[in-house]
Amino acid sequence: MNTILETKNLCKTYIINKRQNNVLKNVNFSIAEGEMVAVMGPSGSGKSTLLYSVSGMDKITAGEVIFRGNNLSGLSAKELADLRLDEMGFIFQQMYMLKNLSVLDNIILPACQSKKNTASRKEKVQSGQDLMRKLDIIDIADNDINEVSGGQLQRACICRSMINHPKIIFADEPTGALNRTSSEDVMEELTKINKDGTTIMLVTHDVKVAAKCTRVLYIVDGNIKGEYNLDKYNSSSELRERERSLNNWLMEMGW
Ligand SMILES: Nc1ncnc2c1ncn2[C@@H]1O[C@H](COP(=O)(O)OP(=O)(O)O)[C@@H](O)[C@H]1O
Ligand SMILES: [Mg+2]
Repeated sequence: MNTILETKNLCKTYIINKRQNNVLKNVNFSIAEGEMVAVMGPSGSGKSTLLYSVSGMDKITAGEVIFRGNNLSGLSAKELADLRLDEMGFIFQQMYMLKNLSVLDNIILPACQSKKNTASRKEKVQSGQDLMRKLDIIDIADNDINEVSGGQLQRACICRSMINHPKIIFADEPTGALNRTSSEDVMEELTKINKDGTTIMLVTHDVKVAAKCTRVLYIVDGNIKGEYNLDKYNSSSELRERERSLNNWLMEMGW
C-alpha cells in the first residue's frame, strides 16, 4: 500500500502571553492510501491541532508533514492552497458555510475556486446536485444555510468536502453535534466514500464511530500513546464485537 500521509517528529507549539504550550511533541505516524483512521484521546490532548497541522491549515513548529511525496513546509502559500483545494477535503466545525450563498452554491464553491477542475458551471452544479441526492439533502439545495438542521448541514459539509474528488478527507468530530440517527447516516456515508477509495482521517470521541474505521490512534498529551488495528468495516462485520474489542483496548489506554 502506498503511503499518502506521513509525519516525522511533528511538533506544534503555541505561544500565549510569552508562555509556551508544546501541544504536539514529536508525533510520528503514517497513513496508507485507502485507510480510514480515527484519532481518539482525552479533551485537550491535541487531536484537532494534529488534524490542522497535517492538513496544512496550521503552520507546524518543527518536523515534517509529507502528503503524497510533498513536504508541506516546502510549498509556497499558493502551492499549498492549490494542493488543499484539489487533493484534500475538510469537514471542520470551524469551516462555516457562507451565509449569503445557498447550500448548493456553498457545496460547489471549492469546484469554482479550483483551477484543476475544468468542468463548466453547469457540470459543477450537476455534480453538486448528484452529491446532494446521494446524501439525501437535495430538497435543501436552494435553502439559505440558516434554514437547515444540524444533520443536514453536516451532510452538506460532506458534499462540499467531496466536490473536487479529494485523495483524503479530514474530519474533526464529524458526528459530534448530531443525534444518533444522523450520526449513523453520516458514518454510513463516510464509510461508503472510504470504500470507494478516499482515505479518511477523523477525530472522534465516539467508540461507535471509531469502530467503523480501520485503525485508531490514541493520543495523550501531544503524543501517540498507542494504535489499534481493525479489519476493514463492511456492513456484515459484527459491529458489536468491533466496539467491544476497541472499548477494551481504550480502557487499557486509560480512556
Ligand atoms: N489556536 C490556538 N492557540 C493557542 N492554543 C491552542 C490553539 N488551539 C489549541 N490550543 C491548545 O492546544 C491544546 C490542544 O488543543 P486541541 O488540539 O484543540 O485538543 P483536542 O482537540 O484534543 O481537544 C490545548 O491546550 C489548547 O488550549
Ligand atoms: Mg478538538
